Amino acid sequence: MVPGKMSLSPSLRWINGASSIAARGSKPPGRLQGSSRTEFQSVLGAGGAIVLLNSPPCLCSGTSAITILFSRDGRRFLITQHVGPNSSMHQRGKVFVADFLDCDLDIERNTFGDLADVIALNALSEDQLAGPLDDADAVMLYHVVSLGEKTLRRLSHCKLIVRCGVGYDNIDWRLARELGIPVANIPDYGTEDVADSAIGMMLTLTRGIHLLNSRLRDRVMPWHYTQAQPVWRLRGRVFGIVGCGRIGGAAALRAKALGMDVAFYDPYVPDGRDKSLGIRRLETVEELFRQSHVLSLHCPNTPETRHLVNAASVGWLPKGSFVVNTARGAIVDTRCLPDAILSGQLGGAAIDVLEDEPPHDDHPLLVAWRDPNHPAYHRLIVNPHSAFYSEEGLCDMRTKGSQACRRALLGLPLRNVVN
Ligand SMILES: NC(=O)c1ccc[n+]([C@@H]2O[C@H](COP(=O)([O-])OP(=O)(O)OC[C@H]3O[C@@H](n4cnc5c(N)ncnc54)[C@H](O)[C@@H]3O)[C@@H](O)[C@H]2O)c1
Repeated sequence: MVPGKMSLSPSLRWINGASSIAARGSKPPGRLQGSSRTEFQSVLGAGGAIVLLNSPPCLCSGTSAITILFSRDGRRFLITQHVGPNSSMHQRGKVFVADFLDCDLDIERNTFGDLADVIALNALSEDQLAGPLDDADAVMLYHVVSLGEKTLRRLSHCKLIVRCGVGYDNIDWRLARELGIPVANIPDYGTEDVADSAIGMMLTLTRGIHLLNSRLRDRVMPWHYTQAQPVWRLRGRVFGIVGCGRIGGAAALRAKALGMDVAFYDPYVPDGRDKSLGIRRLETVEELFRQSHVLSLHCPNTPETRHLVNAASVGWLPKGSFVVNTARGAIVDTRCLPDAILSGQLGGAAIDVLEDEPPHDDHPLLVAWRDPNHPAYHRLIVNPHSAFYSEEGLCDMRTKGSQACRRALLGLPLRNVVN
């Protein structure tokens, strides 16, 4: 948040329920804080006003204060209620770790101290959450389960759901917003780790490292470099990026260091990203595909990006090129990969993420990958959604997720709210 650069929303709904407020100001600040109407007016300036319609109790009692935060685009906002020390909200809270973590929770417990108990549910499906989660003051969600309507509607006093990770496509964040529950993510815990994995996968494919290792282990002869022919020098080859955000940008810098010609397609980053990174921006996804010797995916999973890589668009790539997906499984229609490898259209692919994780054994990609008679056996790399992983990244993810919940329990301004 950058106070002073945000515009004031002309009309705000009071998210706690019955009451609503409207605000306008001559000098709208990004953050307003106070415990009375007078205090708000003094912050807003002479011409400003906060109009309270059905004043919420906290503004009348004098024991509480609220913080109103406006996002840069002036649309998203957050209203946090600060409650005095005698309030019941200072009772020990309950924070649930919905899934993924099955360890001693030392990082989480150290972060919360006396503020809250931390309970790990280690759920494998959403059905296991309804009931146990109802009592949550905050929820930490990883990527094993999804949070949808049947769970969200039961959260009566949840102050934050934090997606301990980047992508938040496993939570109905729109419904959460309607219910007044902020959803935040942890955008930066593993930026460099995912970029390193993408580049690692790219190198092992394009240099023939994986192919040669796999064939020799299977006694496919000759014991000779010619098995990987043709391998092309990477300097000057095009590394194409879909989605030039944090990880895409980090991958771009790494590919540049290898001397590659880096291009990206991302309709949502403002002009200038190409200049700050020293890479080329392309206007259409087809243009990017047509140029890319390596196509590396770094966009979110949205209706727009679902199956962006499919049987038709793989045909736009230069023959013998490579696809690396460390973003989200649904971006690639993986059913098309075995045939593309068989025909030589793809020289290989590296898939860290799949639409269903873990996948079923009869998934066509896995069937080809496990079949010694299919070229995908030697040319396809499959990893278990592990590109994020480093000990440091995992620690960051848990620490930052816990800190986000701690802020919510204390009524402090939240960060990285996505809804
Ligand atoms: N494999 C893993 O372990 C792992 C770990 C972390 C993140 N991820 C995934 O990596 C991806 C990138 O993460 P990030 O932190 O860089 O996110 P980010 O939000 O910083 O960047 C995503 C970029 O994609 C762009 N984008 C959105 N829609 C697009 C479209 N239709 N076409 C092209 N670009 C589009 C956005 O403008 C943005 O610049 C996400 O999908 C995230 O879920 C995977």
